[in-house]
Amino acid sequence: MTVTAEPEAAAGAAPTESAAPDVPFEVIPLSGNLGAEILGLDLRTLDDGEIAAIRAAWLHYKVVFFPGQDLTPREHLAFARRFGEPTEGHPVIPGLADQPEVFQIDYTQARELAAAYGKVGDVSRGLHWHTDVTFVKRPPLGSILRAVEVPRAGGDTLFSSQKAAFDDLSPALQEFLSTLTAVHDGEDQFKIVLDLVGEGRWEGKTFTKLEPVEHPVVRTHPETGKRSLFVNPGFTSHIKELKRAESDALLAFLYQHSVRPEFTVRYHWKAGTIGFWDNRATQHAVVGDFGDAHRVIQRVTLRGDEPR
Ligand SMILES: [Fe+2]
Repeated sequence: MTVTAEPEAAAGAAPTESAAPDVPFEVIPLSGNLGAEILGLDLRTLDDGEIAAIRAAWLHYKVVFFPGQDLTPREHLAFARRFGEPTEGHPVIPGLADQPEVFQIDYTQARELAAAYGKVGDVSRGLHWHTDVTFVKRPPLGSILRAVEVPRAGGDTLFSSQKAAFDDLSPALQEFLSTLTAVHDGEDQFKIVLDLVGEGRWEGKTFTKLEPVEHPVVRTHPETGKRSLFVNPGFTSHIKELKRAESDALLAFLYQHSVRPEFTVRYHWKAGTIGFWDNRATQHAVVGDFGDAHRVIQRVTLRGDEPR
């Protein structure tokens, strides 16, 4: 039997989205539940109507990609500002010296740093499923990523719709999950870096220790009103109302369920492509199949609200 990557070959749930918005540019959907390429725009010269249409498409598809844009860091930041307020690039890892809102992820550098701490294997495997920065009270609304240098093959990013994952659960489990609170903690991943850089900074406030925060297990999207799962294996430590064994078992199920193939899209980057994801309704993971190849991306992150 031939296994293909075609969406129709995937088992399971049908697309759960409502109708796609009418927009004045070409949109190529990339899977049944999320992801689309947007073509024919120059992101440096958009009028307000085009920005509103991009926002509608982004809310619908949850992650949109604009190939062939070749923006400078300054133009990247200017595009991001049309959709919200840029935060510090990352709460713990410093941004570019001259543009602190631009967070550069260079896997060669990250491997060198990890090697110094005997953790090289973690980086060479890429990054596991997570939602960005859920270990703070107000996690980002979304991030806008610019592919600077990427391998010809490999280093793709997977995104998963946490709305589709929630919609696919039984009503009884949906209602039970909606009563629960999860604890999110960034210490495991970022304590080493925080100790190294001395202090972190988020929403203008500095800190020297990452305190765990609580978020609802199911959040309601502030713009679409749709519910989605909001736990991730990167930062969620446990569910507050449950015994630890119950919490571990339920989270293990949710982590497996929330990234089932039919809820995901996989994107291959080319240098110059801009990707923009809704961090309130997705998880993502970097596929760690690029060995020692150079992979450099830059990210601008937009301020979010408190999940409810
Ligand atoms: Fe991420």
